[in-house]
Order: sequence, then structure tokens, then C-alpha cells
Amino acid sequence: MADASSVTNAPARGRFSSRSGFILAAAGSAIGLGNIWGFPTQAAQNGGGAFLLIYLAMVFVLAYPMLVAELTIGRLSQQNPISALRNLASGPQTRRIATVGGALGVCALSLILSFYAIVAGWLVAYMLAPVCQLLGLEELAGWFTGFSSSRNLAMMLVIMLLTILVVRDGVSSGIERWSKRLMPTLLVLLVVLAVYILNQPGAMTGLRMYLQPDFQQISPDLFVNAMGQAFFSLSLGVTGMMVYGSYLAKQENLPATAAMVAGLDTLVAFIAGLLIIPAMFVAQQNGVTIYAADGSLLSSDTLVFTVLPAMFDTMGSAGPFLAIGFFALLTIAAITSTISMLESPVNMACEQFQQPRRKMSWLAGGLITLVSATVVLNFEALFGLVITATTVYAQPLLGMLYALLLMWVLKRDRLLNELKQGFPELETSLFWKIWPWYVKFICPLMILLVFIH
Ligand code: PHE
Repeated sequence: MADASSVTNAPARGRFSSRSGFILAAAGSAIGLGNIWGFPTQAAQNGGGAFLLIYLAMVFVLAYPMLVAELTIGRLSQQNPISALRNLASGPQTRRIATVGGALGVCALSLILSFYAIVAGWLVAYMLAPVCQLLGLEELAGWFTGFSSSRNLAMMLVIMLLTILVVRDGVSSGIERWSKRLMPTLLVLLVVLAVYILNQPGAMTGLRMYLQPDFQQISPDLFVNAMGQAFFSLSLGVTGMMVYGSYLAKQENLPATAAMVAGLDTLVAFIAGLLIIPAMFVAQQNGVTIYAADGSLLSSDTLVFTVLPAMFDTMGSAGPFLAIGFFALLTIAAITSTISMLESPVNMACEQFQQPRRKMSWLAGGLITLVSATVVLNFEALFGLVITATTVYAQPLLGMLYALLLMWVLKRDRLLNELKQGFPELETSLFWKIWPWYVKFICPLMILLVFIH
């Protein structure tokens, strides 16, 4: 069954059918390559446990309050991100700022999708390679694991197609339904793989590195990296969470629901650390090089695409199945995130241009595919640039702008009334004593400080 919006021409608004559906979808957006790949490799390169501690602090003091802010903006108006931000405005000036901020957010999110789909495509390729090997198709396996524009294009197309097909079916019949299927699968795969790896020789060295903080490594850079990681991991600042918030029912307690999402995201990052960092040392034990000549750990893409496959190769007949499971895990995590990246531009196009969801899914998805193909064909020049522009600059700066609009421009009683729905005792709660001034002053200041550094 498709949503009403996809079968009629009137773009009726979708919504999540249940609280758990929302939590799984929003956690699905948050849990992605940032958690399973980004977090563990950053931790390994930044003092293991020290990074873990600073990261946890960043999630708690910065990312969680910002997540509540972004979800609140969406739910307040129950409209697409541009309208939702304009709804905060108090006059023509702030309305203009809101429109530009919203449009930039949707563009930045589309650009994130354009590079994320390429990386996710590599993961599909690395999942299919061991399948080909098991079937004796060595040449095809080589094509999947070799770096070529044809492979990158083909795999990116697969990811974009799957993403469009889910988003096309609407909020509850597409996004929520698939999140409910994929997220539990992801959790099971993650735990099974982590338990297996932790029982391999060498794993304990990695575990020690991960859990014993090396405080010597704490530096300003570490804070910058941890903040960027927290922003990326919670999908902040680029309207992805805002649009999910706009589909959340008014009777839900927003701060509590956001806490579940942030908690799940952080838990998965933590467990992924228990898998990836020990796996590196299991690989080393099996004779795979994990340190470069200068004594530093190999870079994160080498770890995932060279070290771990080499480790699976040393694991006998279980190897190919572990490799398939591992890359399936990453692929699932990636797809629940790409869905949220496409939803925001599609929702915006449907509502701003009064067009049916189906058509807009193909149109927005098609345009982003073209951008992504341009990145593939100009890989050296564009890939790193797009990542830096969106994740290093756009996410914190736009996130800050949204927080400022919510806290400085919107009337306080409207904010209070919005959050009181689903949380009647809000006014007397600790949350209401801390959160508003916190997002008003502290979060923007922290972002600026880290940013200036
Ligand atoms: N949070 C996702 C991850 O950790 C990435 C993402 C960023 C998703 C921005 C949506 C918006 O991989």
C-alpha cells in the first residue's frame, strides 16, 4: 500500500504511524557510515578511549540539545523544511534568512547524498565480491573490488535506485516500513560480528586501546573532530531530522523521543567500536599490516577496504561469509541514512510545487544522481571538496542558524506550547530549565569556538 500522497495528485502529508516507527526511522537516519565506519576509525586514530569520552560529552552537551531543536522546528509547523523555518520568522527580514537557510540545508543534504551514495556503492560492491568468489566468478569479483569509474557509477546507481524506491512509497509505507525491517537486522548483525571478532586472537589488544583512554592525546583537534563526528552522526544541521520531526505526532514527548534516538545512535557507535578496533588487531595478529611506515595507523578507507577484507581472507571458510555479513551491515546502515537524505528534498518539492510524491521522488533522486555521477567522473577534484563543504562547514553553521532562529526569533510561549504537547509537565522539568538558554547561548558559542579554532 502506498501513502495517499503517492496515489493522488494532492500532496497529502505523510506521518509516522507510531512512536517506535519514528524512533527506528530517525535512528536509521542517524546510524550510518558515521557510526560504523567513521566513529571507530576516528577513535583508533585519536587516542582510543580519550576520543570515546570526548565524543560522549559532545553528544550529550551539544548534539542532543541541537537534535531536540531541529526536530521541534519540524514538528511545530508540520511542513517541509523551508516552510518550517519560515514559520519561525517574525518579519520579512527573518523570513528571508529562514528561506535561504532552509534552501541551503536542503542543497547541502542533497550534496551529502551525492557523495554518500558513492561510498555506500563501494560497500555493496565489497559485499558482492565474496559472493562472486564463492561462485567462482573471479573476474567479476575483481571488478567489484577494483577502483574504476564504471564500478563507482554502477554501484552508486544501485544505491540511488533503492533509495528512490523506498522514498517514493511515502513516510509510513516506505520509510517507516523499511526502517522497521532493516534496523533490527542491523543490530543483530552488529552484535553477532562483534562477539565473533572479540573471541579471535589479538582482539584484546584492540579492546584495551579502545577502552583505556590515552589522555596524552587530548588536544583541541580532538574536540573539533569529536564535534564534527557528533554532528554528522546525528544528521544535524541539514534539515534531514527537521523533516522527520514534521511527521511526528503532536502527542509524542519530543525531548524523550530525541533522547532515545541519540541514545541508540551512540550505543551503535560504541558497539561498532567493539567490532572494528579489535578487528584491526585481529588482522595484525594474522599478518596484515595496520600501521604505516611512520608508525601511524593506516587511513580509514584503507582500514575498511584493505585491512578488513585481508583479515576475512585469513579466516578460512568462515571468511567469505563474515565479509558478506560485515559489508551487508554497512550497506543497511547506509541505506537507512540515504533514505532520510532524499526525503527532505522530495518533501520540499512536493509541498512547494504542489506535485505528487512519486514524480518528485524520481525527479529529485534523478537530479542528485546526476550530481553524484559528476562527482564520480571528476573524483579527484570533487569528492573531497563536497565532503568538506557539507560536513565541515554546512552542518555546524546551518545547525547554528536553525538554533538561533528557534531561540531568538520564535516567541517563547509558542515554543513552550509546542513542547508541552506530549510533555504536560514540561514547565516544571529540569529539561525546560536548562535546554532553552543552553541552545540559545551555549550551543552557538561552542560551535563558533570550535569552528574558529
Ligand atoms: N548520520 C548519518 C551517518 O552517521 C549521516 C547523515 C548525515 C545522514 C546528514 C543524514 C544527514 O552516517
